[in-house]
Amino acid sequence: MNIAINEAQLTQEIDTLALFSATEPPSVTRIVYSEQDLQARAWFKERCCEAGLTIREDAIGNIFAHWIGSQSDLPAIATGSHLDAIPHAGKYDGVVGVLGGLEAIRALQRSGFQPQRSIELILFSAEEPTRFGIGCFSSRLLGGVLTSEADTLLKDQQGNTLQQLRNQAGFTGPIDSVCLKRDAYAAFVELHIEQGPILERDHLQIGIVTSIAAPASFRIEIQGEGGHAGAVLMPARRDALCAASEIILAIESFASKTGAVDTVATVGICNVHPGAVNSIPSRVEITVDLRDTDETRRNRVAEQIQEACNQIAVKRNVSVALHKINADAPAQCSPHILQAIEEICNQESISYQKMVSRAYHDSLFMARIAPIAMIFIPCRGGVSHRPDEYAPPEDISRGVKVLAQTLARLSHT
Ligand code: GLV
Ligand code: MN
Ligand code: MN
Repeated sequence: MNIAINEAQLTQEIDTLALFSATEPPSVTRIVYSEQDLQARAWFKERCCEAGLTIREDAIGNIFAHWIGSQSDLPAIATGSHLDAIPHAGKYDGVVGVLGGLEAIRALQRSGFQPQRSIELILFSAEEPTRFGIGCFSSRLLGGVLTSEADTLLKDQQGNTLQQLRNQAGFTGPIDSVCLKRDAYAAFVELHIEQGPILERDHLQIGIVTSIAAPASFRIEIQGEGGHAGAVLMPARRDALCAASEIILAIESFASKTGAVDTVATVGICNVHPGAVNSIPSRVEITVDLRDTDETRRNRVAEQIQEACNQIAVKRNVSVALHKINADAPAQCSPHILQAIEEICNQESISYQKMVSRAYHDSLFMARIAPIAMIFIPCRGGVSHRPDEYAPPEDISRGVKVLAQTLARLSHT
């Protein structure tokens, strides 16, 4: 099978998509159900139609672009990723898996390949936690990890519910209909940039993901007492930001001291009320992103964080409430898909390494309903979630070619 990737077209499409952004280039900001997100979806659907794919959209805007196979009664083979981008992101995270997935299908079509199992490209409505505070809400719903309560439970910063926002965006069906059947897909394979430094550093062309680390996230509310920055003397203070600072440093210390480099913790949001230069902070809200390859070790750190919150609350005479947003299990990739990818890399003399994904992906939740695997390509300096994120076109093409061959092989098994 002669699979030729149209690198020029794919590069141009990645560049075009980056223009659907709420911030100026080179940064990309595309929040789910925003005007830019809806424009990007419309543009993407046109590209899918040009490729002769049949489109279905579900009640939260997940897009399924279907290439029907000769054995369409069998579970299909799926690929895909997300197009939403965190504030001031780059143009490759997620996009490589969506547009690369489309180009993999087009390359297979050009080669004359006829699928047996159907091949489906999925655009997940949102992978990033930006709008609703929880990552992968759409694949969680597809995988049955979130259920219909999400419609009212998930809210953005302004208090708009998922139900209101999806309806405004034109996605009005019952949310119960989003969950996929367990045998909907025979395999799901996601192409993604590595978002880490290993492949580039070790001069490797492909990463074959064996498992996805277990993510958890929490919201911590600290309530102290506000007051005049000049008039309230230090012994009388119950400063919520000072308490939050101690909690943040405790979190850093717990994650650094597990004895494993795989434990990582980040406080990425800190909202201070009232946020005035001459007013003592009365209320602070912080978020904690905690991950590990080992779920038990991650849970131990979560317990340490809870204990630290209790102790610091007493010591500083403030109240501290820790709310769990999510605590997910890791996902294992399927040995038979890994073997197929490995064989393809060997056949094509492509260098590769098996590796863990420390970032989470929609694959984490697709693993609940289908065998999964992920293909990583290098990205410059391991940089991601930044405007200077970059993946060379030849590396993207190579990843797309491996994906295309994997889809072809799985479609015929
Ligand atoms: C995904 O964007 C992640 O934060 O891992
Ligand atoms: Mn991301
Ligand atoms: Mn991503």
